Amino acid sequence: MLLNVWCVNLDCRPGTIDSYLRVLAPLERERSKRLVDIEARRQFVAARMTMRMILSGSLGCRPQDVHLAENAHGKPLVDPLRHHPAPAFNLSHDGDFGVMAVGMVADLGIDVLRLRPWSDVEAIVRHFFTRPEQAAVMELPLEKRAQAFARIWTRKEAVVKALGEGLSANIGAINVLGSRRALANASSSGPIPVVDGLFVYDVPLGGDRIASLATTVAVATIVTTPFILPDLMTREN
Ligand SMILES: CC(C)(COP(=O)(O)OP(=O)(O)OC[C@H]1O[C@@H](n2cnc3c(N)ncnc32)[C@H](O)[C@@H]1OP(=O)(O)O)[C@@H](O)C(=O)NCCC(=O)NCCS
Repeated sequence: MLLNVWCVNLDCRPGTIDSYLRVLAPLERERSKRLVDIEARRQFVAARMTMRMILSGSLGCRPQDVHLAENAHGKPLVDPLRHHPAPAFNLSHDGDFGVMAVGMVADLGIDVLRLRPWSDVEAIVRHFFTRPEQAAVMELPLEKRAQAFARIWTRKEAVVKALGEGLSANIGAINVLGSRRALANASSSGPIPVVDGLFVYDVPLGGDRIASLATTVAVATIVTTPFILPDLMTREN
């Protein structure tokens, strides 16, 4: 199976965001109003617009006619009572860089991180990584540690997000180590079997972004495609 991961820049002008708000559902508009941080609000609205645009392509309807539901932990889902068949999808962003996976599979989870000099790597590794994961990261030379940390972290988050459990998941018990050699060389580990029939995959992004994806099916190829948000404001003028 081939799975596409859309990559999107969520940085939009304020007028464009206002035009996206008109496409969102009332509950999404309310949630956006509760976000006091302007950047977080802009990113939320642009991410929801991305979701709706990409899903509308799969479902053959307008973005405003995509019916979204949520599981008990807040994972957005295509409402299976309104759309049949309902594709699985998941979105993640770090700042303005977003990734979204969508497919006719049972579960999907995706997570992205931008590499930066984290100050608390050691503490997080001790707290959230399994013993073999801790050893694999901490034995690396300092300059390789951030990348290995981000790889393991995004794999864990992708699994938790595929399960849809959010903060209730025991992230420290999920082992996503795969090949230690691949981790040390920053190359792809191939599918790593984890819990509940899920496999986790490294998404080939390159640059300073690390992303991982978890799903229930065997994925032969992951393709990444840029997604350009429309400038509705310009279109309307
Ligand atoms: C939502 C969660 C699963 C991921 O959040 P995150 O990594 O901060 O942010 P991401 O950008 O990767 O993902 C957020 C998006 O995932 C989706 N999402 C929300 N809840 C979700 C869930 N339960 N499962 C899967 N996806 C979910 C939404 O689209 C959300 O975007 P929105 O907030 O704009 O609606 C978060 O609850 C989490 O990180 N849980 C476990 C991590 C943990 O234990 N962290 C300790 C930190 S040291």
